[in-house]
Amino acid sequence: MLSSLVVLTPGMAVYLKGEEYMKMVIAVVKPEKLTDVKQALVDADVGKMTVSSVIGCGSQGGYAESYRGVITEVNLLDKVRFEIAVNDEFVQPTIDAIIKGARTGAIGDGKIFVLPLEQCIRVRTGETGGKAIG
Ligand SMILES: Nc1ncnc2c1ncn2[C@@H]1O[C@H](COP(=O)(O)OP(=O)(O)OP(=O)(O)O)[C@@H](O)[C@H]1O
Ligand SMILES: [Mg+2]
Repeated sequence: MLSSLVVLTPGMAVYLKGEEYMKMVIAVVKPEKLTDVKQALVDADVGKMTVSSVIGCGSQGGYAESYRGVITEVNLLDKVRFEIAVNDEFVQPTIDAIIKGARTGAIGDGKIFVLPLEQCIRVRTGETGGKAIG
């Protein structure tokens, strides 16, 4: 269903209608940065989030560690995953906050994904879109 229309005029986009003002920001960061990222988000007025424990690997494909003299390849490392649904104007502040909370400068600091978000519904009231998200 076409729920919005974007009109492109020279140099600008005009959003006429619809609820594509929303994005899902997903971040996978080091578990020890959970508290720092959460605090940075709250400081940026982004107070709603879902956090889960996950395992994953990035470019390095994990690492090798020695346990009782045996070198074991650890392919999937413990990470935490944030899911944060926001209106468009909060995308950049959310990204900035995640980076502020998670960056050490070392490999494995994490990755941020930004996805278009089709809809959001508050179960209690039935509100949708930007109203429900905020
Ligand atoms: N392309 C990807 N698809 C899905 N998950 C990814 C992807 N890249 C990274 N991740 C997830 O993000 C976590 C952190 O990634 P990581 O920071 O190691 O990325 P990287 O590309 O290897 O960068 P760096 O070189 O800084 O380590 C991974 O453990 C994995 O869970
Ligand atoms: Mg990596």
